[in-house]
Amino acid sequence: MSRVWNFSAGPAALPESVLRRAAEEMLDWQGKGLSVMEMSHRSPEYTSIFEKTRNDFRTLLNVPDTHEVLFMQGGAVGMNAIVPLNLLQGFEQAAFVNTGAWSKKTSKEFSKYGLARVVLDNANTRADASSACYVPECGALLDRVNGQQMAYLHYCDNETISGVEFTGQIEALASLLDCPVVADMSSNILSKPLDVASYGVIYGGAQKNIGPAGVTIAIVDKALLNRALPICPSAFTFGTVAENGSMYNTPPTYSIYIAGLVFEWLMEQGGVAWAQAQARNKADLLYNTIDQSSLYNCPVRQQDRSRMNVPFTLADESLNSKFLAKAADQGLVQLKGHKSVGGMRASIYNAMPLEGVQALVAFMREFEKSEA
Ligand SMILES: Cc1ncc(COP(=O)(O)O)c(C=O)c1O
Repeated sequence: MSRVWNFSAGPAALPESVLRRAAEEMLDWQGKGLSVMEMSHRSPEYTSIFEKTRNDFRTLLNVPDTHEVLFMQGGAVGMNAIVPLNLLQGFEQAAFVNTGAWSKKTSKEFSKYGLARVVLDNANTRADASSACYVPECGALLDRVNGQQMAYLHYCDNETISGVEFTGQIEALASLLDCPVVADMSSNILSKPLDVASYGVIYGGAQKNIGPAGVTIAIVDKALLNRALPICPSAFTFGTVAENGSMYNTPPTYSIYIAGLVFEWLMEQGGVAWAQAQARNKADLLYNTIDQSSLYNCPVRQQDRSRMNVPFTLADESLNSKFLAKAADQGLVQLKGHKSVGGMRASIYNAMPLEGVQALVAFMREFEKSEA
């Protein structure tokens, strides 16, 4: 069997060694005669898996004691409702920076619970070719909130669809607004070190850099655990989930187990510092190839380009299907861009080795030559 290079945006490629280990342990986990999938979430065996997974995650991101790490369900889209339900007690509004489709979806959902103050809406897609996607400079946004108190400021650290990633400007805005920052890091968590203490909530669905779909991780400042609206469902109340060690109800046990194997793998590689360096190398290789070509174009401003999701178009769009078919012939799959923006997108999360990106750029150069 030969495995392909999988550039899917998510669910995405997992480290091969993790899949092999899960396969080995599928029928008989560590001599216990049963699969992890068949274990009670309250058994000593599963408790040991869960606690190691949570501790390893805390270690990887250097999560301080001020913050809880919660394993939840509902995905990042679920968090669009779960976060306001948990943080709005005593507040009516929150601030939003819209840099793309995911953050836009978040502010829209918020409107069911409170007044969404969109301090900047830059959710352009390639449909609007005149304004390439970019991360906003946060300076001149404050007048939009008229000095009113925001429950929090939400932004998406990496817009998976348009390939736009923040590089730090958000802290300045948050300190001016004087409210906690809530970050959707679904598609770039564990790809760089974080100063977790400076965030109120960081959340992410697992299916990119963490493991299989089904589990959502939320890192929550303990100071925010008592701000839930009374209507917040118990299973989604941060405080309740925290008090019950993420076992208020049955967690997605198998997804968490695989996430634990991914965390072990990442630690063996060198942790998030390794991931950051690796991401830079892979992204540079791909963006340089695009920038040096006359066939490929990346619509994202240089300094805002995502290290995880690399969108690009072909100058002649009629070549799109041929490009995808030829790439697939060479085992390079899932390169089609999101349907809302078209073109191509190569997602190169932690589990994509440099070798996979090298294979992609070799193919891209070859394809460009053959079409010249
Ligand atoms: C940045 C971002 N936010 C939210 C989501 C939605 O996640 P989910 O489908 O797990 O709810 C995604 C999914 O791909 C994403 O990339």
